[in-house]
Amino acid sequence: MIYPIVVYGDPVLKKQGKNLEKEKTDVIQLSNDMFETMEGANGIGLAAPQIGKSLRMFVVDGTPINDEEEDMSDFRKVFINPEIIEESGEDWVFEEGCLSIPDVRAEVERPERLRIRFFDEKWEEHEEEFDGMKARIIQHEYDHIEGILFTDHISPFKRKILKGKLTNISKGKIKTSYRIKIPISGKR
Ligand code: NI
Repeated sequence: MIYPIVVYGDPVLKKQGKNLEKEKTDVIQLSNDMFETMEGANGIGLAAPQIGKSLRMFVVDGTPINDEEEDMSDFRKVFINPEIIEESGEDWVFEEGCLSIPDVRAEVERPERLRIRFFDEKWEEHEEEFDGMKARIIQHEYDHIEGILFTDHISPFKRKILKGKLTNISKGKIKTSYRIKIPISGKR
């Protein structure tokens, strides 16, 4: 099932997600739906809050950006109840985008390496290290389950420049190739 993607301005994107419970959520179904939704929007990562679920879960698929520089062929994964244990290395800058903030890109600085503990869709526990683009994708998605968007990392000046665009997104004044859920604006 393809979900509409929640966009900037929706309170669910600012909320910290809750841990999943094995008995409560069919994580196989949910991860399939999340992969399908992400692929439908040509994304390389998608977090549960982006489909309106305030849960600590995200999926990544780096295979569309696999190249000689960085092998992404095995980077298609589900992260459930993840905990970043450690970040290390030098900070580096990359221009990020987000399915929840269509047509907006901005440079974000993040550490190059991380160690993360998580469960996969079979509820098997892993502890792994990632660097480069893989770490970058994980950090971006991990932020989502903490209620943080990449626009929270940019300078106040840059945010001021983007303000009009962000307001338009929150009002649904945006064209996307995928279905979105427009935040309820004004009074409820
Ligand atoms: Ni995002």
